[in-house]
Amino acid sequence: MQKKIIIDCDPGHDDAMAIIMAASGASHLQLDAITTVAGNVDVAKNTKNALRVCELIGLHDVPVAMGADRPLVREPLEASHVHGKSGLDGTALPQEPAKQPVDQHAVDVLIEKLMASDGAITIAAIGPLTNIALSIRKEPRIVPKIKEIALMGGGTYGNRTPAAEFNIYADAEAAKIVFESGAPITMFGLDVTHQALATSDKLEELKAIDNPVATAVADMLTFYSGAYKGKFAGAALHDPCPIAYLIDPAIVELDSVRVDVETTGEFTYGMTVVDLKGATGRKANVHFARQLNPDRFWQLFMDALRSY
Ligand code: RIB
Ligand code: CA
Repeated sequence: MQKKIIIDCDPGHDDAMAIIMAASGASHLQLDAITTVAGNVDVAKNTKNALRVCELIGLHDVPVAMGADRPLVREPLEASHVHGKSGLDGTALPQEPAKQPVDQHAVDVLIEKLMASDGAITIAAIGPLTNIALSIRKEPRIVPKIKEIALMGGGTYGNRTPAAEFNIYADAEAAKIVFESGAPITMFGLDVTHQALATSDKLEELKAIDNPVATAVADMLTFYSGAYKGKFAGAALHDPCPIAYLIDPAIVELDSVRVDVETTGEFTYGMTVVDLKGATGRKANVHFARQLNPDRFWQLFMDALRSY
């Protein structure tokens, strides 16, 4: 039985790779919908990028729904310094995809699909959590219907500030709603996504895969690596991490811990306070991915691309 997933994203190069990985024949995942949210760039561009990726991989029958165009409370944030003005610079994907988004807000698509499900839908949340929070607030009955939220976000340290990772920092109020919702959360923070670095040997392995999708991903990775030059051994493939876990859960070691989201700190807004030692005595609400099996991750990533 294929695992049914909905990807909520802000493409973004690593989001694009996550979609490509999830939709591949090798993933054995059933991609039910793609919903987009303001994040890396504005939601119109993120949506267009999701459609461009669908065009690249021939994903014609999966609905793409545009979602929130700004965070719940704070002023909008973006990351064009990483992903370029378009949000997916450095690729030769069709500029104007033929595929159109559905005429329904992402929040309503999430609610409709979850309410109609028998509790078997997993949400892969790889952008700011605005859509997920709005869905929970608009229809709280979806929470027991969510099989799992596998999210990329947070960590025991930050990348946008010393304390906060971008997806959480971009909408900490939304993240707080999601982390306190009671939905089963598996969290892929920077502690684990920084173990998935696309070093030059990985890029060479990717370039050696002879199909148009792998070639396009190599272009994406070449551009995306620019933001990591001189700081890391390679670009961090943040968003493919939860997808790899949904394909093979054994790829990470998880700890059941309490995680709270800071929304008022002058220097700590957007921090995920990960209580690794149980110091707070508060009920655990997250399965926290601490350790990745990088060899297995890259095997899954390359297998997905070879399957196109
Ligand atoms: O901090 C990394 C996260 O922020 C990734 O999801 C990336 O796509 C950006 O959204
Ligand atoms: Ca993302």
